[in-house]
Amino acid sequence: MDTHTNTDASTEPNAKSEDTGRRSLLGGAVALGLAGAAFDTTAHAVGADSRSRGKSGRFQGKSVLVTGATSGIGRAAAKAFAREGAHVGFWGRRAELGRRVEREIRDAGGEATYIQADVRVAAQVQSFVDRVTSRYGSLDVAFNNAGIGGGKLPHEMTVEEWDDIQATNARGVFLAIKYEIPHMLRARRGVIICTSSSAAEQARPNGAAYTASKRAVHGIVKSAALAYGPKGIRLNALLPGTTDTPFVRPPGIPDAEWAKYKQAWGPLNVDGLERMAEAEEIARAVLGLASDDFPYMTGASIAVDGGATAGRKMIPPSGG
Ligand SMILES: NC(=O)c1ccc[n+]([C@@H]2O[C@H](COP(=O)([O-])OP(=O)(O)OC[C@H]3O[C@@H](n4cnc5c(N)ncnc54)[C@H](OP(=O)(O)O)[C@@H]3O)[C@@H](O)[C@H]2O)c1
Repeated sequence: MDTHTNTDASTEPNAKSEDTGRRSLLGGAVALGLAGAAFDTTAHAVGADSRSRGKSGRFQGKSVLVTGATSGIGRAAAKAFAREGAHVGFWGRRAELGRRVEREIRDAGGEATYIQADVRVAAQVQSFVDRVTSRYGSLDVAFNNAGIGGGKLPHEMTVEEWDDIQATNARGVFLAIKYEIPHMLRARRGVIICTSSSAAEQARPNGAAYTASKRAVHGIVKSAALAYGPKGIRLNALLPGTTDTPFVRPPGIPDAEWAKYKQAWGPLNVDGLERMAEAEEIARAVLGLASDDFPYMTGASIAVDGGATAGRKMIPPSGG
């Protein structure tokens, strides 16, 4: 189970699944030599202020569970929760990456436990949730984030590919909620955030499977928010826009080339902030939703997409 089986066609430079319609700029933008300063990731990263919160962090002593934290948004969220004092249990299939994230969190003075598990396998989901809860004594926050992409036209997609996307993105969220809720019901409190996508709002020609799976997340969250609101449990869906993670970054691309690509990609694809998100920025939103700052928010679908779904940018027909 140590292999990365993400079927996301978005790892191909010209077939990014997230925002699948617009994105095939990489080859073109890089080949055209679009120049400019590299995107400044440091300006948006979680800063020293939150690192130094230490024992006064918003999640001090709370038990937080994160699915899909071996890389990307989940990894950034797991580290951010730990910086704010949480005890973090997280999973993903790639054990080597998981152990590395666990080590990074502990080296920084935080508390985390990595457990190798597959969100498609009910017994593993149950075991993961129960082990984290028993290790840390409660379950205060769950971030159900694991997901895969996969952009293909319906007639070109195999039934197995369709099923895998639904099993990971939709059924996986259902399974996580199924096994998290009993712990929260016992405590009569809890917060659950599930990762959907801006692609749930903005369909693409080759995004049927992915968009369907992420829309399903909204349905699960809205319904569960009604069921468990009276029991003190809040659930919300988070819709990230295109975010700089292995989900969208082609493997092996040099940093400088990727920075150029992102700089060209932003204004063409994101009305509003005109750039790709950083994983740490999405993680900040997750922590905000999970905090006590939004006690009246439940059943909501929150876009954190730099304005992408508010607008309708399109690559010009020339492709330029
Ligand atoms: N990046 C974007 O542009 C973007 C935009 C909107 C929404 N999203 C959503 O954000 C979430 C995180 O994606 P990301 O961008 O951070 O990409 P990522 O770096 O590829 O992270 C995906 C995470 O999900 C885990 N995962 C996938 N399948 C799994 C399975 N069967 N069991 C357990 N864990 C599994 C992966 O771990 P293993 O491979 O180790 O199992 C990994 O930790 C996904 O739900 C994605 O759909 C991403």
